[in-house]
Amino acid sequence: MTKYAILGFGTVGVGLAEVIADQKEKMSAAAGDELELGYILVRHDYPDSPFRDKLVRDFAVIESDPDVSVVAEVIGGVGPAYEYSKRAILAGKSVVSSNKELVATHGLELAELAKEHGVSYLFEGSVGGGIPLLRPLSRCLAANRIDEVYGILNGTTNYILTAMAEKGQAYGDALKKAQELGYAEADPTADVEGIDACRKTAILADMSFGGNLDPAAIPTTGITALEPADLELAKALGCAVKLLGHAIRREDGCVAFVAPHLVPLSHTLASINGVMNACAVRGSAVGEVVFCGPGAGRYPTASAVAADVADAVRHRADPMVPDLGRANGKLISPDGLASPWYVRAAAEADAVKNAFPGVKPVYGSTGECGFITEAMDKPALLGKLEGLDVRAVYRVLA
Ligand code: HSE
Repeated sequence: MTKYAILGFGTVGVGLAEVIADQKEKMSAAAGDELELGYILVRHDYPDSPFRDKLVRDFAVIESDPDVSVVAEVIGGVGPAYEYSKRAILAGKSVVSSNKELVATHGLELAELAKEHGVSYLFEGSVGGGIPLLRPLSRCLAANRIDEVYGILNGTTNYILTAMAEKGQAYGDALKKAQELGYAEADPTADVEGIDACRKTAILADMSFGGNLDPAAIPTTGITALEPADLELAKALGCAVKLLGHAIRREDGCVAFVAPHLVPLSHTLASINGVMNACAVRGSAVGEVVFCGPGAGRYPTASAVAADVADAVRHRADPMVPDLGRANGKLISPDGLASPWYVRAAAEADAVKNAFPGVKPVYGSTGECGFITEAMDKPALLGKLEGLDVRAVYRVLA
């Protein structure tokens, strides 16, 4: 019998207790031992919860119980989650987490601490929700040099963009619905400003290129500046609008950034709608593979965290700690990266064609035009845009 504890009883915490209870036999078989829920660390009372006899308010109860060998941290944020994760590892307990903010900012430190103390530190649920992504990246693709990772890494913004494009819903209404469905963070700023996708991009880049990037340094643009006109023009140009995280290996570091992109409808990512996430990985041997599935929500995320609990138990004698790199890697600006660009401008077709011979502007209901350029880097684009009344510029995924 192995005891595990859950820190936090929010969306993911409740889901985790439920899915492990629901799949008790299968989970115990995966773990190689019977799993017993020891404690759930809470801040409030839940008198009606079926797990009410497991609730504790003091982390020291969990920390000092030698029978607890795995702690699932699903509190979120970097305050108590960071402190309790460290204390759990120091007490000889494996830690599993879905907390992308903590993993992106202190993951390497916690991973090193876990190695020192002979325990596992796993965080499959931190990127892509329920999608098996980090384990396949580090293990199934072990024979590859990973050259590029990019994808739709935030369910809330994908839900909002899909609702705006397909149902013509206003941004605020779509955001409210995403919050009701439990996709959005309590404060949606991290979702809509791209910060959540940036943290996930940092984790993917660290695991792919070993750079231990500072997420705060990754150029990040969210979806709040997008206007209905961009969705309308994108559609007329044969594209969907998606918030993408992107990281590319370079000789001397890596390019990483998060920004809305126009994605041609022929590309796999264009059809990933609603809360679904998808991440493309380009490896030296495999070529490009795409992982997709539900990127947020109670049970999908709990599914990933529960599997980490089972793996941590099974690997007690041979702890699992994914490689997040060693040194501070060089982060290279995306400005030098050539790509086609989408431009929205208030301009006559002749003015557009003078600046960009060969492009075909389309006109939307606001009277503005949208067009897609040839591939070029950002300085070249800005040079050509001089003299046009430009309202928006986004990359187009090539
Ligand atoms: N708020 C996040 C999202 C939750 O919408 O993707 C999953 O990380």
